[in-house]
Amino acid sequence: MEPRILSGKVLSGEIEQELRRDAAALTAGGTPPCLAVILLGDNPASHTYVRNKIKAAERVGIASRDRFMPATTSQAELEAEISALNADPAVHGILCQMPLPEGLNAERVTRLIDPAKDVDCFHPFNVGLLAMGIPRFYPCTPAGVLELMSRNGIEVSGQHVVILGRSNITGRPLSLLLSHKGTDATVTVCHSRTRELATLTRQADILVAATGIPQWVTGEMVKEGAVVIDVGINRIDDASRKQGYRLVGDVDYATVAPKTTAITPVPGGVGPMTITMLLRNTIQAARMAGDSSAI
Ligand SMILES: NC(=O)c1ccc[n+]([C@@H]2O[C@H](COP(=O)([O-])OP(=O)(O)OC[C@H]3O[C@@H](n4cnc5c(N)ncnc54)[C@H](OP(=O)(O)O)[C@@H]3O)[C@@H](O)[C@H]2O)c1
Repeated sequence: MEPRILSGKVLSGEIEQELRRDAAALTAGGTPPCLAVILLGDNPASHTYVRNKIKAAERVGIASRDRFMPATTSQAELEAEISALNADPAVHGILCQMPLPEGLNAERVTRLIDPAKDVDCFHPFNVGLLAMGIPRFYPCTPAGVLELMSRNGIEVSGQHVVILGRSNITGRPLSLLLSHKGTDATVTVCHSRTRELATLTRQADILVAATGIPQWVTGEMVKEGAVVIDVGINRIDDASRKQGYRLVGDVDYATVAPKTTAITPVPGGVGPMTITMLLRNTIQAARMAGDSSAI
């Protein structure tokens, strides 16, 4: 049987409709939601990503405060910018696009962003809440993965989810979310030192790939009937394309898809969901602004 294609492109469009209503209600109530995006330097991938975030914010009625700064920006200048945005009551969400140009301290930046405006959910305070099972914000990529499954009726409770990758952006926070009471997956997190990896992946009811290794997960690593979520976004050379490359995931779609009951495409799977979850967090931050009872 053909697998179900879990389209993040379609679903993010649907969720954007909901967010548009939420943003309009907030604006009508005198709190127009606003997201500040800081981008340093001229990394083309970061520029594309930030442009997509700004366009998506515009579509749902979230105002943007874009701060494009040169790669030569000093740590002090960057921190002054963040402090100003922290202090600005009209700004509800702040994100600083990573990676930063060489020489700048990303950890200091992550810690400086006001946790109440930390819509990426990278601040240690918010990561702590997430680890305790009482998240204020849901980290964007893991939340996108969960939303893709729940809105497609994929049962997670009691399932064995094997995650390839333990990054602070994807693998680790996803493992926390999935193992929360109420979500109730049984989670195995694999990394570069994991032994007998294929033995583990073949036990997965749901396999999530987030390693950044293009087309690495092949059909023989996947159990018949599994659900496969491909977080990877990798550029590989392709002379037949105008730009000279194409995007592929961490999963070898051709050999894996026939074994699955549901699978995400790349592009158009998890990627669009990540941006939509960022917008959802910004709406939430705007709702919580001024609410002293919020965590
Ligand atoms: N769709 C989206 O919105 C989105 C968002 C974020 C990232 N991504 C994509 O997702 C991919 C992963 O990015 P990331 O930032 O989450 O991770 P990352 O920081 O690049 O880390 C990669 C992870 O994969 C593990 N790994 C590497 N080789 C391995 C191997 N042979 N066997 C098992 N594990 C291995 C690493 O293990 P160690 O810890 O042992 O080194 C590490 O935990 C990239 O393609 C990235 O572009 C997509």
